[in-house]
Amino acid sequence: MAGRLAVVGAGLMGSGIAQVAAQAGWQVTLRDIDDAATRRGVDGIRVSLEKFVAKGRLDAGEVAPVLDRITTTTDLAAVADADIVVEAVFERLEIKQEVFRELDKLCRPGAVLATNTSAIPVTQIAAVTERPESVVGTHFFSPVPMMKLCELVRGYKTSDETLATARAFAEGIGKTCVVVNRDIAGFVTTRLIAALVVEAVKLVESGVVSPEDLDTACRLGFGHAMGPLATTDLTGVDVLLHAAKNIYTDTADEKFFPPELLQRMVAAGDLGRKTGQGFYSY
Ligand SMILES: NC(=O)c1ccc[n+]([C@@H]2O[C@H](COP(=O)([O-])OP(=O)(O)OC[C@H]3O[C@@H](n4cnc5c(N)ncnc54)[C@H](O)[C@@H]3O)[C@@H](O)[C@H]2O)c1
Repeated sequence: MAGRLAVVGAGLMGSGIAQVAAQAGWQVTLRDIDDAATRRGVDGIRVSLEKFVAKGRLDAGEVAPVLDRITTTTDLAAVADADIVVEAVFERLEIKQEVFRELDKLCRPGAVLATNTSAIPVTQIAAVTERPESVVGTHFFSPVPMMKLCELVRGYKTSDETLATARAFAEGIGKTCVVVNRDIAGFVTTRLIAALVVEAVKLVESGVVSPEDLDTACRLGFGHAMGPLATTDLTGVDVLLHAAKNIYTDTADEKFFPPELLQRMVAAGDLGRKTGQGFYSY
């Protein structure tokens, strides 16, 4: 299965999704709000493809055809003939809802409208359209060309047909899907990592264990590729705090209440790798 894909948002995730789909033979329209953003997206894709070539995982002759399958635009109307649209704009409900209102007007009937949100309930995004049955969550992981997982999220009105089309798309571009049957805050993966990180931070905060030893325990005891605190530094301490707060707001479940250390690190600007300091120094 390869067809016409539109990706709205050419940032880290949107460009990654555009890349893997183009590698799998899809014709991709990549849309962002200005030319500088679409250019950054395509530059990122070129660099990523060249890394695959350098590692011997892609033929050098494949780079140009993959890039040729990606057309950039700032005009949202270019989504009109897409079979699937994946939205990957900023993680803000009102911005996503505005995009979906427009997609609802512009897309052909039957097109699948997917959101790459990592935590916003799909139902809230779908509700602004006249076709909530066609809206689904496709939560890809970063970096998209490397990470195999796609969390497929069913909104309250998502149809079986929409879910099946989204699954065929994600599997067709090389991903393995897990299905989240109800779009609870944080879905499954963010719930699990938030619960683990909150408990890990509490253990560090109360002096039970050092960050290094806690991460070593998870790596060597559980076979995790990275410990939860090193993972948080990579993702962003602020991103994790935001996720835990959202889940806590939704569930009132104490286990997601962000510990003081997490809040103070964010207030002080120790956000992880991106600022040079998190649970570790970089
Ligand atoms: N970064 C991650 O690790 C990760 C992982 C999984 C899911 N996500 C989710 O994916 C989505 C995108 O995240 P990202 O990290 O790629 O963000 P990003 O900031 O790298 O990119 C967002 C892009 O959207 C563009 N944009 C904003 N409004 C737009 C509009 N109306 N139309 C078109 N483009 C618009 C911005 O110009 C920007 O280029 C978010 O919902 C995020 O929560 C991120």
